[in-house]
Amino acid sequence: MKRVRKAIFPVAGLGTRMLPAAKTVAKEMLPVVDRPLIHHVIAEARAAGIEHFVLVTGRGKTAMEDYFDHHVELEETLKAKGKTELLDALLADLPKEGEISYVRQMAPHGLGHAVWCARDIIGDEPFAVLLPDVIVDGPTPCIGQAIEAYNQVGGNIVVVEPVPESETHKYGVVTPVSRDGRLIKMSGMVEKPPQGTAPSNLSVLGRYVLQPEIFDILSERQRGAGGEIQLTDAMAKLMQTQAFHAYDYEGESYDCGDRIGWLRANVALTLKRPDLESAARAALAPLLGAK
Ligand code: G1P
Repeated sequence: MKRVRKAIFPVAGLGTRMLPAAKTVAKEMLPVVDRPLIHHVIAEARAAGIEHFVLVTGRGKTAMEDYFDHHVELEETLKAKGKTELLDALLADLPKEGEISYVRQMAPHGLGHAVWCARDIIGDEPFAVLLPDVIVDGPTPCIGQAIEAYNQVGGNIVVVEPVPESETHKYGVVTPVSRDGRLIKMSGMVEKPPQGTAPSNLSVLGRYVLQPEIFDILSERQRGAGGEIQLTDAMAKLMQTQAFHAYDYEGESYDCGDRIGWLRANVALTLKRPDLESAARAALAPLLGAK
């Protein structure tokens, strides 16, 4: 069985839920605590053993390329001022040369199309997909849990989480058949089902392990929900010929493409930082006083 070595990060989205900031700041560059969203998600993949990171970018997203590169002037200034701890931390977070690739999604045709744009860089091997809107905090990296499940059962894995029924129309939703621990056999998947028609309350989170045959299906460029080329539709088709499991991960997710989700992530992850926790509690307490 081939190892999962590469991961795709679709980062071309316009971020309309985070306007007006997203007008000139890529939503993936919005900070959560003190580092951009994309930093958190790349760190998750790195901690899960991913060796090559493929960012599918678009117009106005070049800040990410600069972020994952040396900033010579800054590095020299930190060095001259003896701020070696800060400098070492910055350097440790950089991908090694050649570990990161960028490919442009030249038009907004949907998530499936974004993933397809990375096909030549992925080649003929299984790969991970991480949607950078979602930060996951858990005992082990969320994508690592999916890769672990893939190492056990092979095929394709889609990470899911239960959501209230009133929310299912915002997500991809799976049709579960049976369950063994966190691993769920499934028979179908639908993108953004209209209210009251969802096959379950298990929503697609934004972490996947996929086989390269998905690219052949995406090449057909069939359009689905919202008139877009949907990854969910391609997965539903691949499921007819390949093993597919859902995985109910362990951890807590924050949808940072949404104002309140982003706020939750900032508060929760700041409170988990030993260097910030007590000051954050002191600052937040009066704001959260009884209303
Ligand atoms: C995408 C996927 C959807 C998934 C969601 C998770 O939708 O198409 O299946 O449930 O991400 O955040 P989007 O949020 O881009 O509309």
